Amino acid sequence: MTKKVTFTLDGKALEAREGQTVLEAATDAGIMIPHYCWHRSLGNPGNCRMCLVEVEGTPKPQVSCRLPAREGLVVKSLSPAAKRAQTSALELHLVDHPLDCPVCDQSGECGLQDYYMGIGRYVSVLREDKAHAKKRQVLGPHIVLDQERCILCTRCTRFVAQISKSHELGIFGRGHNEAVDLVPGRTLDNPYSGNLADICPVGALTDRDFRFQVRVWYLDETESICPGCSRGCPISAHTSTQRPWHNKGRRLARLKPRVLDWLCDEGRYGFSDFDSDRLGRLTAPLSEVRSALQTHRDDLAVVASGSLSNEDWKAFKSLFVDKLKVKRFLFTPEPDQVGSEDELLRRREKVPNLEGGRALGFGTEIKSLTWESLGQDIAGGRVRSLYVVDRDPAKVLGEKLLHKLELLIYQGPRMGKTGGLARYRLPATDWLEENGHFTNFQGKIQEYRQALKPLGDARPDWKIFADLEAGL
Ligand code: SF4
Ligand code: FES
Repeated sequence: MTKKVTFTLDGKALEAREGQTVLEAATDAGIMIPHYCWHRSLGNPGNCRMCLVEVEGTPKPQVSCRLPAREGLVVKSLSPAAKRAQTSALELHLVDHPLDCPVCDQSGECGLQDYYMGIGRYVSVLREDKAHAKKRQVLGPHIVLDQERCILCTRCTRFVAQISKSHELGIFGRGHNEAVDLVPGRTLDNPYSGNLADICPVGALTDRDFRFQVRVWYLDETESICPGCSRGCPISAHTSTQRPWHNKGRRLARLKPRVLDWLCDEGRYGFSDFDSDRLGRLTAPLSEVRSALQTHRDDLAVVASGSLSNEDWKAFKSLFVDKLKVKRFLFTPEPDQVGSEDELLRRREKVPNLEGGRALGFGTEIKSLTWESLGQDIAGGRVRSLYVVDRDPAKVLGEKLLHKLELLIYQGPRMGKTGGLARYRLPATDWLEENGHFTNFQGKIQEYRQALKPLGDARPDWKIFADLEAGL
């Protein structure tokens, strides 16, 4: 068992693991000591000098990110001496920092702004010109660099060295000319590059997708789960419906990691089309869909998506298995919902909730067709009607084959090719427009919450299934 030590921070007794730093122990206890370079998952190079504290018995201030907590240590982070040291470090960071705040996209969530207002507020004595460096340098598909704003904390270079292990960035030059830049010949295009905008404590690395879309103080945050793959990373969905700040009708501004430190780019940027190609209005009353289903129940196949919530899967099973006694299902993710995976976060199945279906027997007692066998059944006339939930068989099987069907019903948030061919279209909510639960590949059940109002006639999938069943 790890030994515990007790030390004092600003008059308060704190417990720490032996060897843990004062800064980390304070952060665990919810006490903020200013810092830039330290990051829980990236280490503590001790270069920004923002975390200086006064330590009883030592003549000079110490950096708390490299100071191990030990029994009886007395630390002050709020004393006049500690504050003077922190303010001087901040002043040094701001010596060459451009006065970009009114036009900087980091405004409102910038570490320099926050600390200046929190512990700075000194009167600047700087009379010299500021040093200039490269502005608006596109590093890759998602990130843009403004060298002038960089405070050389090295979080970004440590991220590409330790986490993505892709090594695209380095610190070049010496002294006054020191700057973060791309390694010659490289592009910042690793599958986790979007995290750099999150970890950069200032406005030096910003997100190309998000910048200048909306000021951060117009955003609402909702706890959610990323539906991009079967890992189901906890995320915070940042939405905005306040005009004129929501650009081009986009309500979902960005996704940020929550609980975990990182998010992959596929998850982070996979939903920039969130509000496009939406289904909109119901094409016919549910009673008409119901009677079509009854007529075709013997030659019906159902194609379902692993994007359904646990609540949706339950209502799905009740309607199609228990009530309509459908025999043919296709719910495996092949080949339209699979991609690449790695050891960090990304999973091969690009849908969040295959496990929720498996828990109800889909994939075990209830076998899945393959796309090939479904195609053969349609071609051979054994399947003459198809109910599709949020998938696009027209893309996998081809539109020509789907024209053979007597009945095609499509349910989902977006039209896709199949929605365009369907006789009946049932608009469903997307994950941010409903409450629900996903079960990830490890069997962990996680809740996600509604962040936005549904568009058009969209309703949660489970509600559509339950309403169809109620009238049968
Ligand atoms: Fe730190 Fe940002 Fe500069 Fe990288 S670009 S060294 S993260 S301030
Ligand atoms: Fe301690 Fe940067 S956080 S020196």
